[in-house]
Amino acid sequence: MISPHTSDSGVIVHVKQSPTGVALDAAAAFQRLAQQAAAMGVPFRVGLSGGSTPKLLYGLLASEPFKSEIAWDNISFFFVDERFVAHDHPDSNYKLANDELFSKVGVNSASVFPMPTEGMTPGEAAAQYEATIRTEFGLEDGDVPEFDLLFLGMGDDGHTASLFPHTALIHEQERLVAAHYVEKVASHRITLTPNVLTSAREAIFTVTGQGKAPVLKQVLEGEENVNEYPSQLMRGATGRVVWLVDKAAAFQLEAEYPHT
Ligand code: 6PG
Repeated sequence: MISPHTSDSGVIVHVKQSPTGVALDAAAAFQRLAQQAAAMGVPFRVGLSGGSTPKLLYGLLASEPFKSEIAWDNISFFFVDERFVAHDHPDSNYKLANDELFSKVGVNSASVFPMPTEGMTPGEAAAQYEATIRTEFGLEDGDVPEFDLLFLGMGDDGHTASLFPHTALIHEQERLVAAHYVEKVASHRITLTPNVLTSAREAIFTVTGQGKAPVLKQVLEGEENVNEYPSQLMRGATGRVVWLVDKAAAFQLEAEYPHT
């Protein structure tokens, strides 16, 4: 049974032939949105996720034609989540983005906002990052930032950002940024909270690999169960949610989505 939300909730799914196809579409979307903002003379604020999938995307953005065609000076880079490790640690989401993108396109470090991970507790780091977001977005108390674009991944357990199944932060309603210890990955994580994720003007999921197929079917076509499948939180997004998935991840989906 296909849940109705797949057709009328504004969720857009594109099935690509390969992980490279996914990354190319993600890079093209980034370029289009970043150039629109530059043309309108407004800042472009993007949130980056970690994991392995973004590496292909960063490599494309750091090479031609994207490198020369994107107005990098108009972009501010934030992070969707972070592992609570030093910024030179191999697990650091910041390190991945800096090594594969920022250092290669010459992004001004003043335009990059890493989540702090040293010299304080995870909770203090989350509070500091929330203060940074409030300042950079000019937020009043109670406001929620509207990122122009969030790149999201999905774990094979259905997590997104660092909102893992059966964790309390799935239901966080007050804070914009929070920290928790995640047993499953045995690490402290800092993460944007659900209200921030669902308030983005555009969110792009990049999901590849057969290992993600069973959960992707549940997330896109299964009954609502955000505790089990936190990526389903994005069903409540106010902006556009685009899923860029490769054939391997999509092979259990029942609905017909464009194979582009
Ligand atoms: C992280 C990410 C996380 C990631 C998923 C998918 O810090 O790990 O932000 O949410 O997007 O785990 O990771 P892969 O792209 O490696 O499958």
